[in-house]
Amino acid sequence: MSFKVQDHYFKKAKKDEFVARSVYKLEEIDQRFKIINIGDNIVDLGYHPGSWIQYTSQKIGDDGRLVGIDIRPLNKQLCHLKNVHLYEMDIFDVKSTQDLGVDDKFDVVLSDMAPNTTGIRSVDQDRSLNLVEMVFFLYPLFLKKGGNSVVKVFDGHQAQEFLKNNRKKFDSFHFLKPKSTRSVSKEFFVVGMGYKGEDDAQ
Ligand SMILES: C[S@@+](CC[C@H](N)C(=O)[O-])C[C@H]1O[C@@H](n2cnc3c(N)ncnc32)[C@H](O)[C@@H]1O
Repeated sequence: MSFKVQDHYFKKAKKDEFVARSVYKLEEIDQRFKIINIGDNIVDLGYHPGSWIQYTSQKIGDDGRLVGIDIRPLNKQLCHLKNVHLYEMDIFDVKSTQDLGVDDKFDVVLSDMAPNTTGIRSVDQDRSLNLVEMVFFLYPLFLKKGGNSVVKVFDGHQAQEFLKNNRKKFDSFHFLKPKSTRSVSKEFFVVGMGYKGEDDAQ
């Protein structure tokens, strides 16, 4: 059985007409690091139900383009957003930007992907790390040189090791636990600014 904690951010999201409280995590990250800009071409991995899509669609404006991917069925509530294209896909099946109907790489890669949790910490951490590794694997195909990225991570020793070994892929790399993250949660976000591209990255 699942239940929703009806806290301040849950109620605020309802009032502001966002489909999830997660929007305030992205908003805080964006206000601090200026990740998302007018006219950007952005991919949102694990977008469902789509509060990040709502926020980002508005910020990039009519000249921007936003692609969302999730294994869950399309959220038809978002179909009216003209600069948004949604795909029901598993990230592990995506091989190129062409699979998502675009030729160019993205200015920003967002990932709020989370596995179905089991409650067994080590299993959940491993599954989350698989998703994080996949995002990093896709950067050379997906992310423009100089681009930015935000990725959700479940904290753990292996995740920390992985991030330590990959931080040089960006000019700067920041760890952040937004205020709206529930205090019991082990998740945090990694913000990579200024992707160096395949050649210069180690
Ligand atoms: C926390 S939710 C995202 C919430 C979203 N950012 C929002 O603002 O509404 C995490 C999502 O990751 C998706 N996900 C998990 N594994 C995935 C995979 N392998 N490929 C694509 N999406 C995945 C889940 O289906 C889920 O909808």
